[in-house]
Parts: sequence; C-alpha cells; structure tokens
Amino acid sequence: MKTAIEKRLQEAGQEHALAFWKELDDSARHRFLRQLESLDLDLINKLWTTRHASADWRSLAARAEPPPAIRLDRAQQAATSLAAQKKGEAALRAGEIGMLLVAGGQGTRLGFAHPKGMFRLGPVSNRSLFQILLEQLLAARRRFDAPIPLYVMTSPATHEETAAYLAEHDYFGLPAADVQLFCQGVMPAVAIATGKLLLAGKDALFLSPDCHGGMLSAFESRGCLNDLQQRGVRQLYYCQIDNPLVCCCEPELLGHHLLADSEMTTQAVARTNATERVGNIVSVDGRLHVIEYSDLPQDAAQARDETGLRLWAGNIAVHVFSTDFLVRAAGDSESLPFHLAHKATPHLDANGMLQTPEAPNAIKFERFIFDLLPQAANGLVVEVAKAERFAPVKNAPGSPADTAAHSQAAICAQHRAWLRAAGAKVDDQTAVEINPLFAIDAAEVAENIAPGTVISQPTYFR
Ligand code: UTP
Repeated sequence: MKTAIEKRLQEAGQEHALAFWKELDDSARHRFLRQLESLDLDLINKLWTTRHASADWRSLAARAEPPPAIRLDRAQQAATSLAAQKKGEAALRAGEIGMLLVAGGQGTRLGFAHPKGMFRLGPVSNRSLFQILLEQLLAARRRFDAPIPLYVMTSPATHEETAAYLAEHDYFGLPAADVQLFCQGVMPAVAIATGKLLLAGKDALFLSPDCHGGMLSAFESRGCLNDLQQRGVRQLYYCQIDNPLVCCCEPELLGHHLLADSEMTTQAVARTNATERVGNIVSVDGRLHVIEYSDLPQDAAQARDETGLRLWAGNIAVHVFSTDFLVRAAGDSESLPFHLAHKATPHLDANGMLQTPEAPNAIKFERFIFDLLPQAANGLVVEVAKAERFAPVKNAPGSPADTAAHSQAAICAQHRAWLRAAGAKVDDQTAVEINPLFAIDAAEVAENIAPGTVISQPTYFR
C-alpha cells in the first residue's frame, strides 16, 4: 500500500511527505497512510498551479448594483412583513423547516481553548453560546409545535468535545433524535514558495478545516442532506455559532424567502461606514455575490446615493436555502470555489525540526458558503437592524470590536428595550437577560411582565 501512495506522491512532486517514514512505528505508519490516501493530489496540484488566477474584483465591483432587497423603513414594509411572517409561520407549522448551525471554527482570534459554542456568554445567566442558540430553537419548536431538526457542523478539532458537551447537557432540551452532528472536511496546507505539502509531524500532514463552505460536501457525504429530504424539510435555516442575537428560524425571513420563490435568501445589515469589516452583498449581472471588504475597491465601497452607501448590504451569515437548491449544488463538485489564505503555519522542516514562522509561509484552501449565492435563482436580501440581529463574538477581550463584552452589551440592550416596551422600568446600567423559553420576542415579554415592574439589579428572566 505504501508503494502505491509513494508512487502517487512522486508523480505529484510531493514525495518529501514520506521523508521520516523509516522512523515511524507500525501504528503511526498505518495512521499516516490513511491520511495520505484521502488526499486529492490532483486538486491540490490544480489549486497550486492556478493560485494567481483570482477573481477580477475591480471589474466585478464596477458592475455591482445594490441587491434586490426587502429594506427596513420602506413605506410598503409593514404589510409585506406581516404577509411574510404568516407565510413563514405556516411553513414552520407544516414541519418544512430545518436548521443548520456551523460550529467547526477554531476560534483563533477569541483565544478560547474549547469549541466556541462552549464559551460562556450569557451576561447574567452565564449560559454558553450553544445553550443560548439551542434554547432559542427549542422556544421556536414549542411556539410553532414543529419538529425543526438541527444539524450542527463540527470539525476534527471540535467534534469530540462538542458531541460530549451537547450530550452531557441533554441537547439543552431538544430531543436527541432531532439533533445531528456532522464533521466537516479538512484540506492540507502547502508552502507558499514551493507548493509542497506541509508536515505537522513526522507522521502527519498539516491539515485545517475547509471553512464554512465545507458544509455543503460534508452535509451531503455524512447523510444529512438525505436525512433532510426524508424528513420532508423544504428549507434549511443556516446560522453561525458565534452570533447570540441570531433569531433561530425567524418566520419573517423564511416568509420573504418563500414569497419570492428564492433558492437562497440572506439577511443583511446596512453598512454604516465604508471601512466596516463585513462582506458586501451586491448584485452583478442579475446574480447575488458577496465581495469581501478586503476585495472591494475603495471607490465602490465609498460610493453613496440618496439612501446612504450605495452598496449597503453587509453579510451577517444568516441564510435560508431551499433543499432542492442544496441538492443541486451538492451534485456539482465545483459549485464552491476555493479561496487561498496566506497564513503563518507551524511545520516540520527537512531536518524534522519544528518551525513556527511569524510571517505567512503557507497557503490554506478555504470555501465560503456565501459563494452559492450567484447560483441561486431569485436570490434575495432581507435587511434587519444590526442592534437586533448581529453581535458576533470574534475577538479577545480588549479588542475594539466584536468581543464578548460588546456582544453581552448588545444582548442586554435588546432585552432592556423589550422590557421597556412592556412598561417595565430599567436603567441603562442594569444587566438584564431574557431566556427565550420565558419570552422569545418583545410581544411575548409584554404578555409576561406587568407594566410598571421596576428592575434595579441584574436579572435573568427564565
Ligand atoms: P469565523 O470565520 O469567524 O472563524 O467563523 P472562527 O473559527 O470562529 O474564528 P477565527 O477566525 O479562528 O478567529 C464563522 C463561523 O463559521 C464557522 C465558525 O464555527 C463560525 O460559526 N466555521 C468556520 C466552521 O464551521 N468551519 C470552519 O472551518 C471555519
């Protein structure tokens, strides 16, 4: 078996991967061979040889238009919202909706040593991100009396711990039969200078998860897409583990998606300034695209019209996919292109010594789920207010944005606003947190809180 792999590696100019073979014992050899066998050397070679062929962002941006969208604060908005809300609720009640949570990231910027979903964020309750989101899904299930199966994407680095954590907490009240974990794939890294595979050890390649776009092939190959179809789920609601303000299976978003007969709909927030670090959702030649902030030329990012920034739509990674669209996209191995990221990556050198460079030395290959947008028929954008739907936990304490403290402040601000709308009195310094099983939104808070209630100390409503 080793000979066959050795030959393949030689043909691909990657025979150095076996440089330390003689030093390995039988079990290390066995493990390493399995890893090498799973490599798609032709793909790696193709990605390396085409590494300079990047998209022409300037030309794309020159043709970019604001996307077709349901905007906030438009005259027709109230009536459209109500119709969408009803449509989405009906689909939920009919059991046509599933939810996908991507939680395979390594949370490098946050610097947390466990899967990010285990990070305790609840400003008063100290609940973890997993608990916050899964309880919200439970509340939606109860409200609509709907099964809503949940699929959680993990990665090799997070799978075991995530599985043990969720099982230990009884899936935070969700029936175990309706929760399925699936592990995303990995890609090797290659040296920027030579295209050679990097070794993490004498018996291991350096591998990293293929980013959230890895969801498509993993969802299919691990049987989840089939499960979705078997359950009669027609639309899949996608969100990320690190945004506690996400509204799991929001009826209005689902309804807009259904009313527009869209194959993929995405929630967006209005960018407030030209340098904001979010992807820009734009329309090019009648198709939706996301152009990352780093790829959008300054003139396009800054252009304004009477409504504000012309390319206004910031991606918050909340999407709805039709199941039929996912089936079609999963059937095409090229539906998601690879992006190249230059990263500083520890690796073994030719002498077997560990090198930990500070400057980028490696190319990692990643896929992004939003690259499905251009392939979707009737793709649609639905605007939401940032303060109500987007407060991701990305960075370590002390960073200027997207820290746990920023996210907690956003949760408290939202819940204070709901309480005040219900007639409660609470000042800006008092931390409050509402469990979705107590109230899922402002209207439900009003049903459960007596007007005039005074809240003067940190309070967790549950
Ligand atoms: P980010 O791109 O913010 O990455 O992920 P991250 O891993 O959380 O943090 P950094 O970049 O290492 O600091 C956005 C969402 O995509 C998921 C994450 O779990 C998060 O929900 N993700 C990211 C995956 O599921 N797999 C990946 O390979 C990368």
